[in-house]
Amino acid sequence: MSTQKRLFSGVQPSGELHIGNYLGAIRNWVALQSQFECLFCVVDYHAITQPYAVDDMQPRILDAATWILACGVDPEKATLFVQSDVPEHTELAWILNSVATMGDLGRMTQFKEKAEQQASVNAGLFTYPVLQTADIVLYKAEVVPVGEDQVQHLELAREIVRSFNGRYGQTFPEPQPRIGAARRILGLDNQFKMSKSRGNTITLSESAESVMAKLAPAVTDVNRKRLKDPGDPEKCNVYTLHTHYDPPEVVSDVAEQCRAAGRGCLDCKKILHRHMVADMAPIQARAAELKAHPERVREILAAGADHCRAIARETLREVRDKMGLNRR
Ligand code: TYM
Repeated sequence: MSTQKRLFSGVQPSGELHIGNYLGAIRNWVALQSQFECLFCVVDYHAITQPYAVDDMQPRILDAATWILACGVDPEKATLFVQSDVPEHTELAWILNSVATMGDLGRMTQFKEKAEQQASVNAGLFTYPVLQTADIVLYKAEVVPVGEDQVQHLELAREIVRSFNGRYGQTFPEPQPRIGAARRILGLDNQFKMSKSRGNTITLSESAESVMAKLAPAVTDVNRKRLKDPGDPEKCNVYTLHTHYDPPEVVSDVAEQCRAAGRGCLDCKKILHRHMVADMAPIQARAAELKAHPERVREILAAGADHCRAIARETLREVRDKMGLNRR
């Protein structure tokens, strides 16, 4: 039995992973996998709350798992699995639906944003954070590395845990978010959060040429209209990306040159491009290797699901017991 605290996090298989997912979450997963007992999950049941093509789902799940491993999640240190391989996630979500309140769910900004974009809103989108809570507490995980956009869902998770524990007796610990340095990566529009639905992403699989083609027109400090205007790095998303990719001395030089109007934005982007591509190249090489052997990824996922099912079954037994749902 491990003495490390348990950590849980997940990513939706909703298209290619982008550098927002990587910097905001997966890079931290890799950094934390030696410190905690880590469970990482491809959350396909969450992804079905958005429209999708049925034939795309399995390739997307495999693709997400492949890139997570390519980023450095190590199956020797951490467990990687697919949510729908462990049906207890949805069973516990149903149970927690009877604890969560409509009022709390209706306040979730992510729900409001997504609901606004759709003519008909499915109930799964509304109860999405309840399934997310179930994912975490099914394993009694205490630490949840995520980007800033998930903090509100984690607050709700703690509320649900408190209600459950209050009503049925102490069962689950209150999960805490663990936010890394890249709490909210903006898209190349320098306006909205980087996300697939906005089409403002750089994906992990992109070629060096394609990354440059996207960086070149990316919005920088809008007040720096000409080369001789000094810029404010704090208002520039490209600078933020420098802070996540470049060594510290390069970051200081980039900021200095920007403030002194010493370097044009395109030249500045070329420096970022060099460091970004150097970070992405080994990830892409590992992904190519894994894509040549999809059976390896499937084996890792199968072993991960076996491991998680055993824990999940035990939690559900305890939960049903506490709720008077086990036949005696
Ligand atoms: P998803 O797939 O939308 O996002 C996966 C992770 O990437 C982070 N992220 C970002 N971080 C910084 N800047 C960005 N632009 C950016 N875009 C995405 C997200 O914060 C997230 O950490 N609901 C979760 C999936 C989930 C989950 C869970 C997470 C389901 N169950 C249990 C933790 C624990 C989500 O947003 O996935």
